[in-house]
Amino acid sequence: HEINNPLAIISEISGWAGVVVSDAKGLSQEDREELETAARRIGEQTDRCKAITHQLLGFARGSAPAIISFDIHAMIKKTIGFLEPQLKFKPIDIVLNFEDEALPIKSDPKMLEQVFVNLITNAIYAVKEKGTDQGRIDLKTSRAGPNMEIMISDNGTGIPEEAQKKIFDLFYTTKPSGKGTGLGIPICRNIIKKLGGEISVESQEGRGTTFNISIPVS
Ligand SMILES: Nc1ncnc2c1ncn2[C@@H]1O[C@H](COP(=O)(O)OP(=O)(O)OP(=O)(O)O)[C@@H](O)[C@H]1O
Ligand SMILES: [Mg+2]
Repeated sequence: HEINNPLAIISEISGWAGVVVSDAKGLSQEDREELETAARRIGEQTDRCKAITHQLLGFARGSAPAIISFDIHAMIKKTIGFLEPQLKFKPIDIVLNFEDEALPIKSDPKMLEQVFVNLITNAIYAVKEKGTDQGRIDLKTSRAGPNMEIMISDNGTGIPEEAQKKIFDLFYTTKPSGKGTGLGIPICRNIIKKLGGEISVESQEGRGTTFNISIPVS
């Protein structure tokens, strides 16, 4: 609240300033446009700050997982459904390789959903960035004793060897400002740790990236 309240006020005032500038008399067309753009950019950047504080809060709060029984396959399919709009303009094949119809586990579905949204969003970005016509994201699950393993692979840009460790650092991003904050993977790692699991990455520059997750089934 200490950050969000002032942000809400800045956002409101920038909107109001934009309106005042649009209606103001005695401004040259050029000055008016410049001021309107400035007011709009203040608004946009404030909204970005709000989104970042929201993500960071989830990261810092450290709330304990809320464990329930659910079918992780159904959950992954639902998550892909959310991301459908990002796939509209560029056809990317999402290939599901699930061993069984349903895979019941005891875990925190909300937290896992955040992990999948982050990893699949990154994969979509990497595939689009590469500009291939045959973009593909594979999701594979399997049981491994008391754990289950989930593999998320893409044939996107890949991550250079020397960057593979850095992606787990808070605020590490290679995306242009406005497109990435470098919170996605640290949040995934934090969540998987809380759920008693592990996450690792394998990648080859120019070929693609695979994230492996292992979490206890119960
Ligand atoms: N599937 C991937 N393919 C290629 N590079 C990736 C992939 N996933 C992550 N990266 C690299 O790791 C960096 C960090 O990823 P992370 O999700 O933490 O942050 P971000 O995507 O840049 O921003 P945010 O997720 O906060 O919007 C990315 O900027 C990108 O360079
Ligand atoms: Mg990301």
